[in-house]
Amino acid sequence: MDNMKISAILYSIVAIIFILCAATGGSPAFYGVAAAFIALAAASYPKKDKKDCEQNGSTECVIVYGGFYRGTKQYAQNLSEQTGIPAISYKDEPSLSNMRVIIFIGGLYAGGVRGLTKTLRNFHLRDNQKLILVTVGLANPNEHENRDNIRVSLQKQLSPEVFYKIKFFHLRGRIDYNKLTFVYSMMIKLRYHSLRKKPLETLTSEDRTFINTYGKQASFIDFNALKPIIEEIYLPVERVP
Ligand SMILES: Cc1cc2nc3c(=O)[nH]c(=O)nc-3n(C[C@H](O)[C@H](O)[C@H](O)COP(=O)(O)O)c2cc1C
Repeated sequence: MDNMKISAILYSIVAIIFILCAATGGSPAFYGVAAAFIALAAASYPKKDKKDCEQNGSTECVIVYGGFYRGTKQYAQNLSEQTGIPAISYKDEPSLSNMRVIIFIGGLYAGGVRGLTKTLRNFHLRDNQKLILVTVGLANPNEHENRDNIRVSLQKQLSPEVFYKIKFFHLRGRIDYNKLTFVYSMMIKLRYHSLRKKPLETLTSEDRTFINTYGKQASFIDFNALKPIIEEIYLPVERVP
């Protein structure tokens, strides 16, 4: 338990003693003293805010994002605004070795997470570090089938040592077919035409989302979905046996 928590508990105990004294015939002024100790306890109790990611003035948490268009960057920037944790593109190759919490937000491209392999190359997750991996894709992750597909792809991209220690979250992104590069545009076109040839009942929910959004602009960005990720950031690091 840290010193702040111990102080808060001690102040609370003193406040209770003064309340008991006042209630058992002591001076009513003891209530005032108790109130002052309660205020001290509240002020010294450690708060779960962005300071949890700061020690000795330097940040211990980082958001790394890997996207091609704007979906992942929008999530990374919003998470950064809400937590005060800096957001850096994977292309800037941020140093991760001294970080306590690393949040990687990456766009899904044909099942793979953009920038993840490069970011985790030569990286070894220590016991006191937490890695949160957030994927951003078009398929709805609330559907088990989609979520399972993402996990299967991630298992191929990550070493078992890292895969079983990571906290996963899945968000929905955006797409604008008019802005795709030539190569991506061709990839998508081929997929679309091959899916159209399949019987409708054999299509997965991910395939249907893909067909429904094909050729359009679609955004499923939802910043409320960042809430559980923020909670996870401030949870203590769990040790995996
Ligand atoms: C070539 C291509 C492949 C994609 N593959 C997948 C995929 O396998 N699963 C998925 O859910 N979304 C897929 N998407 C959608 C992207 O994940 C989505 O557009 C996301 O917002 C990408 O992040 P970004 O906007 O930061 O680039 C794909 C998009 C493109 C252009």
